[in-house]
Amino acid sequence: MKFDVLTLFPEMFQAVKESVIGKAIEKELIDINLINIRDFSKDKHKKVDDTPYGGGAGMVMMPDVVYDAYCSIKDRENAKVIYLSPQGKTLNQQKVESLSKEKHIILLCGHYEGIDQRVIDEIVDEEISIGDYVLTGGELPAMVLIDSVSRYIEGVLNESSIEEESFSKGLLEYPQYTRPEEFLGRTVPDVLKSGHHQNIEKWRKEQAIKITGEKRPDLLKKFEDAE
Ligand SMILES: C[S@@+](CC[C@H](N)C(=O)[O-])C[C@H]1O[C@@H](n2cnc3c(N)ncnc32)[C@H](O)[C@@H]1O
Repeated sequence: MKFDVLTLFPEMFQAVKESVIGKAIEKELIDINLINIRDFSKDKHKKVDDTPYGGGAGMVMMPDVVYDAYCSIKDRENAKVIYLSPQGKTLNQQKVESLSKEKHIILLCGHYEGIDQRVIDEIVDEEISIGDYVLTGGELPAMVLIDSVSRYIEGVLNESSIEEESFSKGLLEYPQYTRPEEFLGRTVPDVLKSGHHQNIEKWRKEQAIKITGEKRPDLLKKFEDAE
């Protein structure tokens, strides 16, 4: 899977290149290519934004600079172009899984007051938000998308991790424990030490239902309606 990222702050993406995703890059399972939009400024001061028509606060990223940065991407016609935007549809696990089936995704990160609407209308296939709040830029949302989508790419994680995880089966995950067996007087549930796989499975399912009901009753209702 190839991600091309159009951004004014490519240095920020070091954060997504660590740990599991870093290993996936090393194994060439994913490729994250960063394109600095500022490199396409025609201005000697490398200006990329200007004041909004009609007045108002802040600066707007100029359409021609963003468009030239986009046109520098090879095979862009076959890629899905996503603009990270608070106005987009909120990202969820189903969307993450469906995006993992794409071969090439171009992520457009806005900054300041956002991007001139004309270039959005010209190049963007879909707008995605990571929640109903406003961030200073699309870089953190782009990293959230890269991280969550990459976990579904074959070879990045071991498959059972994904199957068991929160949201994958419509429930939150059961509680996890590791050594030591006793910590500050708290012990590991006996069933997990029993070696009885059926009982462990049953306990985990009951816990997942209990926890989902406590923390996300909306999810539990959807799960029960679907059963
Ligand atoms: C300060 S925001 C612009 C907000 C815009 N003026 C509005 O009110 O809709 C700057 C950039 O951050 C990104 N951004 C901010 N919040 C986001 C969110 N919740 N999800 C995805 N991207 C977001 C977008 O790329 C946006 O262009």
